[in-house]
Amino acid sequence: MLTSEQTAIIKATVPILETGGEALTTHFYKIMLGEHAEVRPLFNQAHQASGAQPRALANSVLMYARHIDNLGALGALPAQIINKHVALQVQPEHYPIVGSCLLRAIREVLGAEVATDAVIDAWAAAYGQLADILIGAEAKVYDQLAAAPGGWRGARPFRVARKVAESAEITSFYLEPADDQAVVAYQPGQYLGLRLVIDGQEVRRNYSLSQVANGRDYRISVKREPHGLVSNYLHDSVNEGATLDVFPPAGEFTLSSGTGPVVLISGGVGITPTIAMAEAALAGGGRDVVFIHYARNSGVHAFGATIDGWVRRYPRLRAYVAYEQGALRNGAWPTALGRPAMDQLKAWVPTQPEADAYVLGPKPFMGFVRRSLVALGLADDRVHHEFFGPTEALA
Ligand SMILES: Cc1cc2nc3c(=O)[nH]c(=O)nc-3n(C[C@H](O)[C@H](O)[C@H](O)COP(=O)(O)OP(=O)(O)OC[C@H]3O[C@@H](n4cnc5c(N)ncnc54)[C@H](O)[C@@H]3O)c2cc1C
Ligand code: HEM
Repeated sequence: MLTSEQTAIIKATVPILETGGEALTTHFYKIMLGEHAEVRPLFNQAHQASGAQPRALANSVLMYARHIDNLGALGALPAQIINKHVALQVQPEHYPIVGSCLLRAIREVLGAEVATDAVIDAWAAAYGQLADILIGAEAKVYDQLAAAPGGWRGARPFRVARKVAESAEITSFYLEPADDQAVVAYQPGQYLGLRLVIDGQEVRRNYSLSQVANGRDYRISVKREPHGLVSNYLHDSVNEGATLDVFPPAGEFTLSSGTGPVVLISGGVGITPTIAMAEAALAGGGRDVVFIHYARNSGVHAFGATIDGWVRRYPRLRAYVAYEQGALRNGAWPTALGRPAMDQLKAWVPTQPEADAYVLGPKPFMGFVRRSLVALGLADDRVHHEFFGPTEALA
């Protein structure tokens, strides 16, 4: 429990964090990743290089400082952090490492005049309080995942049963447990963690589950990223019969249990969770589904035949696909050309406020689609989005 003096000190730090939070967290990562090899595999180097991860952490520290006397006001933030941590297997013993590096970064970035002993003590207490909350919540999720039918704790070996090219750049991997036992169920929209060793280096990544849960196997669908370490390794070197270490599913970008229409809008590889959500909503039978997908061209359009089959099978599905480059042909994809546009969305999307929308694609794509859907009348809190990387603000 923080004293009232410590709470006041944390609140007084808010203006410093507003302007200098990112410099602080960038310095923090430099210290921690430089000195603690044991936590390095958990962190994606590309997210450090782009600054997205230091920004996500700075934002969470700022939010925490602002709401230190009313943690309920943090809203969805703790759940977001917990899910990311669980999918990458953050453990209680990692917290003191983060804590000591964070306090050192505060001292070194702010200097002794600002970062007095009282300030450091207050931040040590505040960090301890937040760490306890996260450790407790994460332990609960780990325990639930281990106790559930087909569940497990930590890494479990899976064999690649099938490897299927879905487009010129997206390949699906069907993963069966090496012990041939059941696998834990998940919500459509959730993702797995993979642990790999590439050129002697351990690395971890998340991949969305691209089909509904069946208790037997998982499917992930991976886009080859230019110069991407893990995606190229999976495409080029992980073949049928190979074994991969898999962490259990997590994630809070999941289909709600409403009765209104489900609107799924994806760009590129953002299709992976939306295809699982579409499958779940259609199998449930009680909801209209509008599936909208944007691809650069026919060569990189994944799951076109699957959606085609579903359109024939499910009268409650309406599907639209737009290509940036290509031509319209009768009876074949695409339905339209170009990038997302307001008139297009207006024609395709049901605008009643009880519709639930799920949007995934590049950041500017999600920003535009989200704003458009709200302008068209969808409820702001029913338009959900997720990043395939650290969470960022949508301008
Ligand atoms: C919740 C979640 C779900 C996801 N679901 C999917 C999914 O279903 N399918 C999918 O394909 N992906 C998904 N991803 C993304 C996935 O986890 C990986 O980030 C992605 O595969 C890229 O990893 P990589 O190792 O291939 O690329 P990385 O090596 O991480 O590189 C990514 C990019 O950054 C550049 N880069 C790397 N290091 C540096 C550096 N030091 N300086 C400058 N640039 C650098 C690379 O050239 C590349 O263009 C998901 C991510 C999350 C968080
Ligand atoms: C109080 C302590 C902590 C806070 C406030 C915190 C906060 C965050 C936040 C805000 C994110 C981004 C979430 C998102 O993108 O949606 C994140 C991701 C992450 N955190 Fe933590 N975290 C804490 C402790 C830890 C610890 C102890 C570890 C383990 C060393 C850790 C490892 C990670 C990793 C690996 C990611 C994903 C990084 C990536 O995408 O590259 N965190 N955390």
